[in-house]
Amino acid sequence: MRPRLSNAERELIKKSIQSAEKPEPATLNHILDSYAELTSIERQYLRDVVQQTKPKRILEIGVSHGGSAVVLLDATRDTGARITSLDYLQQCYKAPSKQTGWIVHEMFVDLSDRWTFKGGGVVCQYLEEVSRGEKFDMLFLDTAHQNPGEFLNILEALPHLDKGAVVVLHDTALYTIDLRCTTNHILLSTLKGKRILFDDPACPNVPNIGGIVLDDPMDRDMLWALFANTALPWTYTPPFVDCTLLHNYYLKHYDKRLVNIFDKSVERHYQGLTNGCPVPSGSLNYVA
Ligand SMILES: C[S@@+](CC[C@H](N)C(=O)[O-])C[C@H]1O[C@@H](n2cnc3c(N)ncnc32)[C@H](O)[C@@H]1O
Repeated sequence: MRPRLSNAERELIKKSIQSAEKPEPATLNHILDSYAELTSIERQYLRDVVQQTKPKRILEIGVSHGGSAVVLLDATRDTGARITSLDYLQQCYKAPSKQTGWIVHEMFVDLSDRWTFKGGGVVCQYLEEVSRGEKFDMLFLDTAHQNPGEFLNILEALPHLDKGAVVVLHDTALYTIDLRCTTNHILLSTLKGKRILFDDPACPNVPNIGGIVLDDPMDRDMLWALFANTALPWTYTPPFVDCTLLHNYYLKHYDKRLVNIFDKSVERHYQGLTNGCPVPSGSLNYVA
């Protein structure tokens, strides 16, 4: 026979279950201060955008420990939105013994049934599978911050975003401390739609996080500008196998003339390459 519990004991158990299922904001903030790569004010902005726009299917690209995934999962407890997170790396770049996004499974078990993670290589490889024919209504993009980084990621994501989807970019002002990190500032200015501005006291006028409600993810004029961004100088050159996968994916979704802008940029960077990546012999020859 089980021992009878006093009311006080019952209350205590109830409280501990509740706090395990839904950490107090202070506990959550404490964990995220260590594992999210967003400041608490940036996390609040992301949370506010989610709570105002109420997305049902969120795509995240750029995961690390999983801090921003937890913010997205926590902000959607009421709506039950699904979050799909993708990353180039399967192992967390900040903690290589752990899987990318590990804190979701290890620290926030109650949130993990609404979360899917795929990682390893360029993320376009996973997009058909994870979208399952349905579009996402929010994208949170936070990857390399240097060219071509997010310029390539956004072109991977757009075919899977709905009209009116909200896009949030992080590190839009990182160039204030690292001159190479202009990518997300340029990207935010290139996207067409209604901007969700944030008055960031740390970076007045040029906040380090920003969002936009996209008019039309496949707007031809905007697509030209986004492909033109890929022609800007790159600070790193992705492996050739990645460029090939991206080229083939882009050809499936975009006009060949636009993809040509990306191809020319790949050619230019491989021809002038000095950073040790293997240079393919002869002219570039993409194999489908
Ligand atoms: C700044 S961290 C993400 C931080 C996370 N969003 C957060 O706030 O806690 C950048 C992540 O982007 C990933 N990444 C870098 N380049 C990428 C690419 N081309 N495609 C997908 N993920 C990429 C890295 O592996 C890393 O996990």
